[in-house]
Amino acid sequence: MCGIVGYIGHRDAYPIIIKGLRRLEYRGYDSAGIALYDGEDINLSKTKGKVEDLKKKADKSISTSGALGMGHTRWATHGVPNDVNSHPHYSNSGNLVIIHNGIIENYESIKKELIKRGYTFQSDTDTEVLVNLIEEVKKQEDVKLGKAVQIALNEVVGAYAIAVFDKQKPDEIVVAKLGSPLAIGIGENEYFIASDASPFIEYTNNAVYLEDEEMAIVRLGKEIKLRKIKDDAIAYPNILELKMNIEQIEKGGYDHFMLKEIYEQPRAILDTYRGRLRADQGIIKMAGIDEHLEKFMNANRIIIVACGTSWHAGLVAEYIFEDLARVPVEVEYASEFRYRNPVITNKDVLIAISQSGETADTLAAIKLAKEKGAFVFGVCNVVGSSIARETDAGAYTHAGPEIGVASTKAFTTQITVLTLIALKLAKEKGEFSESKFHEFLTELETIPAKVEKALESNPLVEIISDVYKDATNCLYLGRGYNFPVALEGALKLKEISYIHAEGYPAAEMKHGPIALIDDQMPVFVIATKKGHYEKVVSNIQEIKSRKGKIIAIVTEGDEQVTELADHVIEVPETLESLSPLLTTIPLQLLSYHIAVMRGCNVDQPRNLAKSVTVE
Ligand code: AGP
Repeated sequence: MCGIVGYIGHRDAYPIIIKGLRRLEYRGYDSAGIALYDGEDINLSKTKGKVEDLKKKADKSISTSGALGMGHTRWATHGVPNDVNSHPHYSNSGNLVIIHNGIIENYESIKKELIKRGYTFQSDTDTEVLVNLIEEVKKQEDVKLGKAVQIALNEVVGAYAIAVFDKQKPDEIVVAKLGSPLAIGIGENEYFIASDASPFIEYTNNAVYLEDEEMAIVRLGKEIKLRKIKDDAIAYPNILELKMNIEQIEKGGYDHFMLKEIYEQPRAILDTYRGRLRADQGIIKMAGIDEHLEKFMNANRIIIVACGTSWHAGLVAEYIFEDLARVPVEVEYASEFRYRNPVITNKDVLIAISQSGETADTLAAIKLAKEKGAFVFGVCNVVGSSIARETDAGAYTHAGPEIGVASTKAFTTQITVLTLIALKLAKEKGEFSESKFHEFLTELETIPAKVEKALESNPLVEIISDVYKDATNCLYLGRGYNFPVALEGALKLKEISYIHAEGYPAAEMKHGPIALIDDQMPVFVIATKKGHYEKVVSNIQEIKSRKGKIIAIVTEGDEQVTELADHVIEVPETLESLSPLLTTIPLQLLSYHIAVMRGCNVDQPRNLAKSVTVE
């Protein structure tokens, strides 16, 4: 998830684009770049780091004049954050320049073909491949930029919001969208292009939001004309009058980044599937695993190290790997693991999970495991982060930037990546028949829509949160795959509402915690149909008989627990091993609403940091 900005008009483009990039920095902040057309040539400056670093560099290194330009703030997916991988990217001739937000999945095969035709590449990015493909089409087909972009886009697979400029045709910018957001701001004899309206809302509140598979040639003095990329059909722009302020736009209209990120989970899981899950072909493709499959296949065990929410994702993975792939797994708090003098051999695979990729304890655990000869695999969200660089191989969660300190979409995309790895291993190890494997992949494809459905419980969750917002203690219970989800639910409530909460395996209650139960104790119980349902029902009866308040997460259409519980929140049915991706949603929303109702700073809770880089 990157931020893109473009301008064509009568004002100086430079300040507009720099300010616009600052506003989009919540979308990605590992590198930035700008290209300006001064009436003769394109002046481009780009750098690793934040927009401030870009401004310092551009001020010193390029002419910043011109009334046409484009800028980009990056959230790396292909190619680590550095100057050369930053956008914008030139085509080989230097005539075309592009900015892109999204992922081109088949860029490697296109790159191979272009290299055969003599193209050279400066960066490791999919985007540089796209601009050179456009250049090649323009040359071969002898067509204008708009047509060349359209033809090229019909050859790529993936997601994109792009803006392309050709210095040989300096009165237009060509834009296109599939999967990533793109808006055009319409001013008096000027146009603004951006990932959302925050870069241009102070100049105009008239905007067109492109739909998927639409493109437009943004030409000065001409009306905006939209075309369908597939078949060139005309699409009529729906010009909206925006009634939003900048802060609202950055949060996408949500009150907090945390709520926005909770609602981004269907898309984040889809993006994490992208280029990996092919249920129709019955395959899971993951470069980091494919290249090192024998390490996993011959591993004596998998050791998972992480902290906080990432550790909870690791616990869910323990259930998945052991249940589906029949690989022994140990899950370790990185902070304990690094000092416990653990027994590690070169027959061990260590998986390190980290959203930020900068958590000090996890990094140290990795270094220790490497010293002892283990193969280390990283699951990170930040491309090019220290943990991503330190590990032998890895897989990124494509959740996009997670701004809220309380981790939400990183948790579900971590579980998604780990599930894909476990399923792949299970298949390779012959633990799965073709049909069972197909059943799982097909069910996985339904998860984003089922998360969408689980999010529909939000209004009910808000009502329930109001009942329990003044609680001083809470308990969270789950069994099997949903025990770690209970731990995660408790952590979410603790870290943003400051209510003391504990998660437990439901059967553990009788061994102590049940002493805490009285009519003041809210107990959140995950009681979905698949996975020890009857046993959870009896745990609920034990709590009821001591007047505890039961808030149960149940499968749609549940009757038995609904009878027993004080409140129920339904989630769609799915396989037990995939249920954590759904049951965690209402618990995220509960902690969010209770924290808001208690007037807490939800996005930046006290005493916490988004990335703990000290031990
Ligand atoms: C979770 O909401 C917290 N922000 C925290 O527990 C976090 O999960 C932990 O610090 C690990 O961070 P990481 O995933 O970036 O390594």
